[in-house]
Amino acid sequence: MHNAALRQLGLDWRYLAFDVHPDKLREALEGCRAMKFLGINLTVPHKLIAMPFMDVLDASAREWGAVNTVALEGRMGEGDWKPMREFEQTPPTDVRLCGYNTDADAVIRSVSEDLGCVLRGLKVLVLGAGGAGRVAALKLASGGVASLYLVNRTVSKAQEVADEAARRFPGVQVHVGYPSERMDLVLNATSLGLRSGDPLPYDAAQWSPRQASLAYDMIYRPAETPFLRQAKAEGCRVANGLGMLLYQGAKALEIWSGRPAPIDLMRQALVNHIYGES
Ligand code: ATR
Repeated sequence: MHNAALRQLGLDWRYLAFDVHPDKLREALEGCRAMKFLGINLTVPHKLIAMPFMDVLDASAREWGAVNTVALEGRMGEGDWKPMREFEQTPPTDVRLCGYNTDADAVIRSVSEDLGCVLRGLKVLVLGAGGAGRVAALKLASGGVASLYLVNRTVSKAQEVADEAARRFPGVQVHVGYPSERMDLVLNATSLGLRSGDPLPYDAAQWSPRQASLAYDMIYRPAETPFLRQAKAEGCRVANGLGMLLYQGAKALEIWSGRPAPIDLMRQALVNHIYGES
């Protein structure tokens, strides 16, 4: 999606993937600094490990304790720091690494745009309280949902996220366990559905998507998990996590390039790459 966007924007840049062992992350980042890269994306498990290696942390990275996007900045002597794209002719004398998190906003943008809903006032059930579930629950709470039900195999983790959500967003009703009332939205943030043969991410003896209107799965491969298939069969409007991948990438590109990302083209490139050309 990035290379398609770079071509469209007429930027002679390339987006490349590098396999870096976590023990070598610091060296890899120093290499990016030495080579004056424009920007970097980090994925699991580097998002957490990279935090202390940043020279500057944007509020988005500080808030979530994770960095998925690094923007490199340069300066001449004691001059002002500027984005690396401004040093095409003369290289800067100094380079710094600025850490951002574009994941968290992408969850909210994808849920609201891809499901066509306004989050404020919704009743939401979040399945899963790992890293992804925590960020989704807290972002939904910050988006002004009315109530939040949290379910996780390890109940203590759901309780921890519930306590944090209640403390940070006192206007939201937070519960641990399945709701008896009807939900507007159910969101799967567990890893169940990634592998074929995985069970459903909820206990069908206790709850059913028939008790919800919208269903979102943070998984995007396969395009339709058993959870989304079941939710659709039971009448929910559904969306998968492709939009999260798209919007975190679009935001990163906007940070690096200072220009609006060609979203539709990036979405098409992702769809072609992940689901095949057809
Ligand atoms: P991520 O960062 O993607 O959220 P994670 O922190 O490992 O990854 O979280 C995975 C989530 O899927 C957790 O909610 C996990 O439940 P636990 O906290 O109890 O581990 C959930 N999960 C994974 N495998 C599961 C399974 N077989 N049954 C139920 N939940 C499962």
